[in-house]
Amino acid sequence: MLAVNRLTVHFSTRRGTVQALDRVSLEIAPGEIVGLVGESGSGKSVLSYAISGLLDSAARIVEGSILWQGRPIGPIRERRTTRASIAQIFQSPRASLNPIRTIGRQLADVAGKDKVRALLESVRIDPERVNHYPFELSGGQCQRVGIALALGCDPELLIADEPTTGLDVTTEAAVMALIDDLSARLGMATLLVTHNLALAAAHCDRIVVMHAGQIVESAPVASLIAAPMHPYAAQLLAAIPQYARSAGDLVTVPGLLPDLIGSLPACRFARRCSRHAADCDESPPPLMPRVHDHLVACRHPLC
Ligand SMILES: Nc1ncnc2c1ncn2[C@@H]1O[C@H](COP(=O)(O)OP(=O)(O)OP(=O)(O)O)[C@@H](O)[C@H]1O
Ligand SMILES: [Mg+2]
Repeated sequence: MLAVNRLTVHFSTRRGTVQALDRVSLEIAPGEIVGLVGESGSGKSVLSYAISGLLDSAARIVEGSILWQGRPIGPIRERRTTRASIAQIFQSPRASLNPIRTIGRQLADVAGKDKVRALLESVRIDPERVNHYPFELSGGQCQRVGIALALGCDPELLIADEPTTGLDVTTEAAVMALIDDLSARLGMATLLVTHNLALAAAHCDRIVVMHAGQIVESAPVASLIAAPMHPYAAQLLAAIPQYARSAGDLVTVPGLLPDLIGSLPACRFARRCSRHAADCDESPPPLMPRVHDHLVACRHPLC
């Protein structure tokens, strides 16, 4: 349904060229929920914007392509941005709302008047608030209206960038149940961007791990949790209490993301990696299947 092929995106800034994505490849099948995880600054939002066609004009596509149902689509915002069938939930709660229209009107625009109440209920907002403006709602309520807007246009692919960050656990569960239901019932595919590996593990079919603009591992959830292959993925998992082998194993990933401006090592994890060897610096390790559908980009994987 969606195929991102070796997508390389740079941003021109006054400080220099930010090498935000490096040969990123990713596929999503109908009905599939794919989790995209990685530290802050690893390129998750840039990739989501690219798929939604919302990159700003400072972005340069250096290499690669995005195919939607077999046809190439442009990652940079054009004048007419409406890309029916791909909907985006934005990371910042107010980004998807028009500040001068009531939430009811905005929902009616995408879904039709008769669906507004049901959409509000589905994200646990009192339908009596249809005539409220975004400024009258809290950040979390705006986030939920944004989710209702995205789901209201019956998308075939939902790009959800941190959709439940800042929501209470009950509302988070309701939103995730809605996404699960639309995937199962209507075959909606979802790219779920999140810092929360436990949330991704609970709802996704597959998890893709990004580090500094590179995809380092992609695997079915169970396979990733049982046997992470990339040292970075293993450290991310070990940082979560429920996946750490024992309380003593709880670690944070050492070191910082490399600066994406200037010269970068072939494997961008090299300087943080305890398994680093001379051959790691020769060329970027390709993302290759090691067992079935478990892919890893590492010359010295853990298993
Ligand atoms: N418009 C832009 N101009 C310049 N650099 C940018 C731009 N957008 C993103 N970047 C850079 O690209 C890198 C990846 O950013 P991105 O927002 O995708 O991270 P992220 O993984 O979504 O992080 P977070 O988890 O904090 O949301 C960062 O180094 C960021 O500074
Ligand atoms: Mg982000």
